[in-house]
Amino acid sequence: MAPEPEEEINEKNPRPLDEDDIALLKTYGLGPYSTSIKKAEKEIKEMAKKVNDLCGIKESDTGLAAPSQWDLVSDKQMMQEEQPLQVARCTKIINPNTEDAKYVINVKQIAKFVVGLGDKVSPTDIEEGMRVGVDRNKYQIQIPLPPKIDPSVTMMTVEEKPDVTYNDVGGCKEQIEKMREVVELPMLHPEKFVKLGIDPPKGVLCYGPPGTGKTLLARAVANRTDACFIRVIGSELVQKYVGEGARMVRELFQMARSKKACIVFFDEVDAIGGARFDDGVGGDNEVQRTMLEIVNQLDGFDARGNIKVLMATNRPDTLDPALLRPGRLDRKVEFGLPDLESRTQIFKIHTRTMNCERDIRFELLARLCPNSTGADIRSVCTEAGMFAIRARRKTVTEKDFLDAVNKVIKGYQKFSATPKYMVYN
Ligand SMILES: Nc1ncnc2c1ncn2[C@@H]1O[C@H](COP(=O)(O)OP(=O)(O)OP(=O)(O)O)[C@@H](O)[C@H]1O
Ligand SMILES: [Mg+2]
Repeated sequence: MAPEPEEEINEKNPRPLDEDDIALLKTYGLGPYSTSIKKAEKEIKEMAKKVNDLCGIKESDTGLAAPSQWDLVSDKQMMQEEQPLQVARCTKIINPNTEDAKYVINVKQIAKFVVGLGDKVSPTDIEEGMRVGVDRNKYQIQIPLPPKIDPSVTMMTVEEKPDVTYNDVGGCKEQIEKMREVVELPMLHPEKFVKLGIDPPKGVLCYGPPGTGKTLLARAVANRTDACFIRVIGSELVQKYVGEGARMVRELFQMARSKKACIVFFDEVDAIGGARFDDGVGGDNEVQRTMLEIVNQLDGFDARGNIKVLMATNRPDTLDPALLRPGRLDRKVEFGLPDLESRTQIFKIHTRTMNCERDIRFELLARLCPNSTGADIRSVCTEAGMFAIRARRKTVTEKDFLDAVNKVIKGYQKFSATPKYMVYN
């Protein structure tokens, strides 16, 4: 049999494309990495979906679940079954630690009852003097309640950790070291103190000129620690009515004691901690009482648990000596004006987020700002940015910084409050 004549390959009758050719054609217009990029994109999408699934239900703005997930019927049923409880105070426990322990409760403005425990409460949860929730029929104790604390005191707890870390504090090496020793060491290694037989220091007083980073460091401490952090501004404790301030201090420490570990930070403590004197009118007595309550709480007639007290002021000379004596605030940490190296560091910290020219000589700038505080340096950086904005530039140059130094450091010199405070520096 004669072989079939091979089809003639010419312009009119082209050879059909085979698979290799098609594959080659498909790569037309693609970059060298496009397939791998596509693959990576697909993987990213899958991963994002997976993360979303794992995160579960998202909270909406109102804090409610999506309406599709509401279960109104069972909610209604639960509301019908569970009656609201009444608040009472457990005043006494009869036959404690035995099978037939009974509890004396005092329902305010109704009466006193001797009752038992509900099914869901264990006897170890209830102590004398505690607030409890009781049902309305048999007045059995259903749940232990936390102590009642003034809402304005509860508001002082810092829940959202500030975003300042130790890295944002320029210089202040010694101060950070001292602070960490008092705050972190007793919390992390309490056994060291027990072994030696000493009580860890109770508190730290930070003092120094304004703008040297006292509040900043306290915020860094708050960020670092897992303990509950309570921030009180001295003036918050000055109240209208007699005894209110002292009561707030008491409730504050009561709240602090109820936590596992707690740091209380009194900022601008000179508002209440002034030395006692007699002004003849008795107007300031209330403030003094508040301060005395702090002294009393620092002494800790009740066991104080794991509470550390930090205080910050820039007028340590006006504070009452009773507040400062060792045993109350053992440590006094001075915040001085930053030295050359620290100033350079502070410049670097504040320009970290700025869009600056490269190789700005921060040492030179630091040298040009003698006797200036961290706050001054921050102001210089801001002014330098303002100069750049005025000149419609997108980056800040060294010249801007020099101008800013001239403006802030030289210009405000006659205005500065610092020299007055340099007496004890
Ligand atoms: N050592 C520092 N490192 C970095 N920034 C600093 C430093 N010291 C001060 N600053 C800057 O100055 C600002 C003010 O400092 P801070 O609030 O800590 O002052 P202060 O010591 O509490 O003053 P005052 O006694 O008036 O309350 C801070 O927000 C920070 O930007
Ligand atoms: Mg401050």
